[in-house]
Amino acid sequence: MPGGVNSPVRAMRSIGRDHPIFVERGEGFELIDVDGHRYVDWVCSWGPLILGHAHPDVVEAVAGAAQRGTSYGAPTEGEVELAAEVCNRFESVEMIRMTSSGTEAAMSAVRLARAATGRDSVLKFAGAYHGHVDGLLAEAGSGLATAGIPASPGVTAAQAADTTVVPWNDFEAFEAALAEREFAAILAEPLPANMGLVPPGAGFLERVRELATETGALLVLDEVISGFRVARGGAQELLGVRADVTVMGKVIGGGLPAAAYGGSRALMQRIAPAGDVYQAGTLSGNPLAVAAGLATLQNLDAPAYNRLGALTERLATGLRDAAGDRPVSVVSVPGLVTPFFAPEPPRDFAEASACDLDAYGRFACAMLDLGIYPPPSQFEAWFVSLAHDEAAIERTCDAAAEAFAEALG
Ligand SMILES: Cc1ncc(COP(=O)(O)O)c(C=O)c1O
Repeated sequence: MPGGVNSPVRAMRSIGRDHPIFVERGEGFELIDVDGHRYVDWVCSWGPLILGHAHPDVVEAVAGAAQRGTSYGAPTEGEVELAAEVCNRFESVEMIRMTSSGTEAAMSAVRLARAATGRDSVLKFAGAYHGHVDGLLAEAGSGLATAGIPASPGVTAAQAADTTVVPWNDFEAFEAALAEREFAAILAEPLPANMGLVPPGAGFLERVRELATETGALLVLDEVISGFRVARGGAQELLGVRADVTVMGKVIGGGLPAAAYGGSRALMQRIAPAGDVYQAGTLSGNPLAVAAGLATLQNLDAPAYNRLGALTERLATGLRDAAGDRPVSVVSVPGLVTPFFAPEPPRDFAEASACDLDAYGRFACAMLDLGIYPPPSQFEAWFVSLAHDEAAIERTCDAAAEAFAEALG
């Protein structure tokens, strides 16, 4: 396996480790590696595990589904239930189509936007990550930012030319880009979490919504991370901005491969076989993934979101206290936290990239040695789960006090 891994950030190269953690099992908020080390897990599979590892409801649902067969390639009742649950949570979503990964969902959302508008170009923001779709890799966050790759070889010039990249939170650059070109889609993570967590500044997302409507572009909000996490109805509920197309992933599959995109009935009816925009998948709506997703969403009620918000706040405050007066700024929204190694929270990818990445690496290595597993990159958010508790947070903040001292003196 290249780099010893099946997805790049796992390799931990950017923090200077020469090998990743090899996992034996997960239990609640803990990860146990093959050497028997236990870690408080703040990666949680990069987001899906909002209930923590091996939650009994999820395990039971998946085991029950597996007993009845692992895949049929034909529709099931569970898919209908999941679709109804999603539409009930997202006001802007009346129909969904499931896929197996967020990458596929983002790719398909762009195809739909192109078909619906008759335009080719898409606009994305620097530091946002929408999966490894050819046309969306330019200045992407997540693993590309971690590895310092501005754009991937293998992407054709034509695909790159169809994508305009604009700095996040930059009104002027955004407006100039829209004045210059007609876009099929404006893609945004409403709460970008792939350059670390960099929420929109006052009025920015509202302006994006407004200009998308004015210029006839579809607003595609990628809620693969924020969906079902920051609120019941994702960032759209939390921030009060509505998408034309919503991209979902991670939590929707409860730790199994599932994702989806959705929007108004009129728009989604363009998808085959209702319409002429082709998109398909052998394992789309897989019964095990649907069972895990449903079991997860059934646990995510109002008290659960209150608790997740309180745990996040407690972690953010604890990390702030542990950092003391060192140049660290901790940014959080419910369910997501990033301690940036910079005196002020970054407002865009350039500022996130200017953080003290070496210090973050030293910090993350020290945390691992102390039995805490933070994301092994400054450009990823910490994922809080409902399995985390006061003890987990205390263990983390005690270790962080030591790790900040080791990283920054
Ligand atoms: C915001 C966002 N969109 C899309 C994706 C791609 O999802 P997947 O890794 O399931 O293909 C990710 C993955 O981290 C993501 O964070």
